[in-house]
Amino acid sequence: KGDPRLQAISNAIRVVPHFPKQGIMFQDITTLLLDHKAFKHTVDIFVDRYKGMDISVVAGVEARGFMFGTAIALAIGAKFVPLRKPKKLPGEVIAEAYELEYGSDCLEMHVGAVEAGERAIVIDDLVATGGTLSAAIRLLERVGAQVVECGCVIGLREVKGQRRLNGKPLYILVEPR
Ligand code: PRP
Repeated sequence: KGDPRLQAISNAIRVVPHFPKQGIMFQDITTLLLDHKAFKHTVDIFVDRYKGMDISVVAGVEARGFMFGTAIALAIGAKFVPLRKPKKLPGEVIAEAYELEYGSDCLEMHVGAVEAGERAIVIDDLVATGGTLSAAIRLLERVGAQVVECGCVIGLREVKGQRRLNGKPLYILVEPR
């Protein structure tokens, strides 16, 4: 990838050692949001990729997937569907659990937000184990949507290497520094 925008994006992401706990190198995208040019490059790359692919649903994963997903949805003319942590959505929901290092968590989606046959992408800031995105894919497939791809700003090398998740393509802009 010779795209110079990717270096600018990578440079704008702050790495915070030992947050939220010892040993974790936290990839902080709030500094990317502060850098208008780098933020715009990020959205533009996804928009160029997904426009013209007949995508009607952009599903964003709470919380940082919202920050990129809404901008992408507006630009490609798709609806935005938030995939939220438990007990946040007021309407009827379906839920999918996923494993964490200790215990498990859950993503929920409003029933009726997505219809069978719709073409969807899932957007998040970062993929690590892929557990979160896998739960997102399952939610969309349960309602009969077609998950075309998952797009993330940051992806770990191992996950990036396989480039697939539940059989779906995974598109990543940069690796963690
Ligand atoms: C982070 C990140 C992804 C997820 C990736 O979210 O934003 O959603 O972890 O990890 P995985 O690939 O191993 O599943 P986090 O759990 O910190 O939630 P938050 O965005 O609500 O803070």
